[in-house]
Amino acid sequence: MRSFHIIVISLAVLASASAFDLFDDLEDISFMPVEPSLLTSRIIGGKNATFNDFPYQAGLLMNKSGSGSWCGGVLISDKYVLTAAHCAKGADYIDVYLGAKEIRNLEEEGRLNLRVNASNIVVHAAYNATDIRNDIAILKLPQTVNISEQIKPVDLPSYSDAAQDFSGRSVIASGWGRTNDEPGSTISPVLRYAEVFVQPESVCRYYFGQYILSSNICTETAYGQGICNGDSGGPVVIQRGEKRTLLGLSSFVSSRGCVKCWPSVFVRVSYFLDWIAQHSDIQISL
Ligand SMILES: *[C@@H]1O[C@H](CO)[C@@H](O)[C@H](O)[C@H]1NC(C)=O
Ligand SMILES: *[C@@H]1O[C@H](CO)[C@@H](O)[C@H](O)[C@H]1NC(C)=O
Ligand SMILES: *[C@@H]1O[C@H](CO)[C@@H](O)[C@H](O)[C@H]1NC(C)=O
Ligand SMILES: *[C@@H]1O[C@H](CO)[C@@H](O)[C@H](O)[C@H]1NC(C)=O
Ligand SMILES: *[C@@H]1O[C@H](CO)[C@@H](O)[C@H](O)[C@H]1NC(C)=O
Repeated sequence: MRSFHIIVISLAVLASASAFDLFDDLEDISFMPVEPSLLTSRIIGGKNATFNDFPYQAGLLMNKSGSGSWCGGVLISDKYVLTAAHCAKGADYIDVYLGAKEIRNLEEEGRLNLRVNASNIVVHAAYNATDIRNDIAILKLPQTVNISEQIKPVDLPSYSDAAQDFSGRSVIASGWGRTNDEPGSTISPVLRYAEVFVQPESVCRYYFGQYILSSNICTETAYGQGICNGDSGGPVVIQRGEKRTLLGLSSFVSSRGCVKCWPSVFVRVSYFLDWIAQHSDIQISL
């Protein structure tokens, strides 16, 4: 009998005086004890990003009633960032880091650190923390950002992409999330990425049962690669020619570990195109 224990993969941090201290205080509280990992290589199983490879990646530090947590996000226009609802819900404000690579280095060249107030955070009204349904939120930035090689939005899927399941396709997930399943491990100092494969919905449902909805998209972890705590809300994209299209936002993994053969689960962005259009000024293409 399979158990359906799942965990959302934001990382809780302790209250602290400055962002620098915050990064040092990142602690794993949601993670259950796991057996020593057979899959020791590390995003788990990924590689360090090189500069400007992921200009749409955002780092998010949430302040919720004085304590903090860490997530990823993704720039989808010069004014809007998408993330997971479980990251944004209840935040008094969110610090958004754009154009970053070494996340602890707030002075990084060309990087933009912006604060988004609660009034500019929209969490999906039907987000349900019990079955992790509608795990999506949108942040309106306090200013339009200048697009450059370092800070550049990713394409949203089109309405015609919404008809495809992308099963078997190679995709790229990125984030500063934990790089292994060891208890107590913290976020990665550098942005990392992994190339993974989209798993058929039926296979994903075999593992997670009723938690998998048509609004999810899963990737395999069979090769020891996947998302982990701290990657929540961050992107998984597909490369098509020169362009990348956003397919998913990191949502949850098995509580047994990030890459215990259980799939990585994402919000399927194409399912929420109308919702995104409704809460932004973005035109979705057909
Ligand atoms: C990746 O970045 C980490 C942290 O800066 C560093 O320790 C490691 O050597 C890098 N790995 C490679 C292959 O460059
Ligand atoms: C959250 O915000 C409050 C008020 O600005 C501040 O005192 C506190 O240090 C912040 N906590 C974190 C974890 O950023
Ligand atoms: C959230 O999901 C659970 C499990 O499916 C369900 O029992 C509950 O009624 C849902 N809550 C809301 C507010 O829809
Ligand atoms: C954010 O909220 C603070 C306090 O309510 C306010 O002073 C500030 O002007 C707001 N900033 C924006 C960009 O709305
Ligand atoms: C954006 O670019 C304009 C024109 O080059 C410049 O004046 C402005 O300061 C830039 N804004 C930011 C936030 O970098």
